[in-house]
Amino acid sequence: MYAGDEKVPSWFWLQGLFTTIYEEGYYMSHKNGNFSSSLGFILACVGSAVGLGNIWMFPYRLGQFGGAAFLVPYLFFICLFGLTGLSAEFAIGRKAKTGTLGSYELCWAHRGKGAVGRFLGWIPLMGSLGIAIGYSIIIGWVLRSLGGSLTGAILTEDSAAYFAQATGSFGSLPWHLAVVLITVIILVTGSVTQIERANRVMMPVFFVLFTVLAVRVFFLPGASAGYNFLFVPKWERLLDVNTWVMAMGQAFFSLSITGSGMIVYGSYLNKKADIVGSSMRTALFDTVAALLSALAIMPAVFAFGIEPAAGPSLMFITIPKIFGQMPMGQIFAVIFFLSVVFAGITSLINMFEAVIESIQHRFEVPRKLAVLLCGIICFVVGVFLEAEPSVGKWMDFITILVVPFGAVLGAVSVYYVLGYKEIRKELEQGRTKSMPSLFGKIACGIYVPLTIIVFVLGIIYKGIG
Ligand code: ALA
Repeated sequence: MYAGDEKVPSWFWLQGLFTTIYEEGYYMSHKNGNFSSSLGFILACVGSAVGLGNIWMFPYRLGQFGGAAFLVPYLFFICLFGLTGLSAEFAIGRKAKTGTLGSYELCWAHRGKGAVGRFLGWIPLMGSLGIAIGYSIIIGWVLRSLGGSLTGAILTEDSAAYFAQATGSFGSLPWHLAVVLITVIILVTGSVTQIERANRVMMPVFFVLFTVLAVRVFFLPGASAGYNFLFVPKWERLLDVNTWVMAMGQAFFSLSITGSGMIVYGSYLNKKADIVGSSMRTALFDTVAALLSALAIMPAVFAFGIEPAAGPSLMFITIPKIFGQMPMGQIFAVIFFLSVVFAGITSLINMFEAVIESIQHRFEVPRKLAVLLCGIICFVVGVFLEAEPSVGKWMDFITILVVPFGAVLGAVSVYYVLGYKEIRKELEQGRTKSMPSLFGKIACGIYVPLTIIVFVLGIIYKGIG
């Protein structure tokens, strides 16, 4: 049973006399549709959360900041942010029955300042658009690497030279365009049903393929050094403040807490779903994906005596080098890059959808037009950023300043401006038990201040996510 299946009661018009327009949402589904089940919703959210952060950053940080010891702060922050941060974004979207722009307006309208909310919502929305612009270039490189794995070129040529061919100005046009087109085609041919369908295929495939890789890597001679790097606990690292800062940043960004993307998925969620439970499941699967990535990558890096690394050099130089030396490496290279394309596209779908839904909502344009507009902006701006230093600077600007600031706005707008009392009602929809009183204290007293700390530390450290 979904909100969309419920009939509008005949006395509904009467209620409209006394309540705000947003409360209509309680009875109606979103015009883009609703997720058909909790599983569909969770898979879509996992699709958004699992991305490059899990694959090219988490494995390195895990080893670098204390191995198993790093898991202590990391799991602490994952639970905290999953519970309070994801829940807030899902709940405000579901309450407003619309995505980013409408949700901020609703929060601030509660204080009679709807116009402030109308303006502020644009900041996290620009974060979603900005990150989509850079992300589609990088996933274009991944798609090219998949092509190179299929032909074998990435394994036979020098991997650094192969990567360099695509990272100059206008260096990856066809791949970049293909990624934007794939995302646009998925979103233009349907709305929530199509998002759900794509994630129902791509996410399970990602988990299965990465498990296959992790098992293959286990049998490589010398892989044990990788497990030592990843899991032998260096407890003294817990005394280093950097360990906590990096664990916090990693958890925050991995869960896609941006004050935007998860709001739109929340707006497609029916009233019977348990938001807090769904948030925790999303956080759990995101963590499993991060650990699987670590198990699939680092033992292989050590087995071939290569220095561990993170970011583009790990993905596009180190990993192809490994597959080039591994027996039947071509098959595993295809498996690896196909999985990363899936992880990237499912994240990109969410970034696009945040923008598309808000354009539909604010300007009342047909969905197809909103999808096309988003795709065109994303590609046209991205074309001028294809050179690696440009996209690097762009992503730093977006992920250090715009996205974390949007996340602060989201947390403040939901828990302080709208207030915990109001959002609590939404969180209790679909639950059999009422919310524990501690939840509000943690959300308002710890989570919101931490979002501000994440923003400030990101600037000081020049990026922690
Ligand atoms: N949360 C996604 C990632 O880790 C966007 O890449």
